[in-house]
Amino acid sequence: MKISIVYHSETGNTKKVADLIAEGAGLDGRVDVRTMSVDDIDEGFLEGSAAIVVGCPTHRGSFSWQMKKWIGTTRLKLAGKLGSVFATEAYIGGGADFAELELVAHLLVMGLLVYSAGAGRGQPFTHFGAVAIKDGDDAQKERARIFGQRVAEKAVELFGRG
Ligand SMILES: Cc1cc2nc3c(=O)[nH]c(=O)nc-3n(C[C@H](O)[C@H](O)[C@H](O)COP(=O)(O)O)c2cc1C
Repeated sequence: MKISIVYHSETGNTKKVADLIAEGAGLDGRVDVRTMSVDDIDEGFLEGSAAIVVGCPTHRGSFSWQMKKWIGTTRLKLAGKLGSVFATEAYIGGGADFAELELVAHLLVMGLLVYSAGAGRGQPFTHFGAVAIKDGDDAQKERARIFGQRVAEKAVELFGRG
């Protein structure tokens, strides 16, 4: 089972959160998790992944144009995979929820099966996906790890360890 975490990060915050999500996704030691920047996609690994998690900074209340460029133009075959999202922002109410919903819309159009864990797994809630203010305080960091773990568990439940 492979899982890809695809991110755009201008100043490093989102990359740090991507690494935390990857840490959580790999916790049981039996999932092969890779993080990759939109500027350096490992296409083979990504197409072979059962789940992808995409995330970027919030820019002007929306998701970054660099992520839009990748997700809006990629020709990789991602339909049927589990898809989850995350976003960082500089302050509460900065638009990360909206950025996540825009990412979700792209995943739906591309035919992925969207999963956030939401409130369905109890605390911590990740309504649309993981959110962090910059690279997150300790609670946000832990939420990012748990989010990754839950995405991996759902992927294994749906697709097996294959
Ligand atoms: C052009 C630009 C626009 C931004 N707009 C917002 C915004 O609307 N809301 C917000 O909370 N943060 C905003 N930020 C801050 C970033 O979302 C935040 O610092 C983020 O964690 C940066 O992630 P990165 O280090 O991965 O690039 C903006 C940053 C830039 C560079």
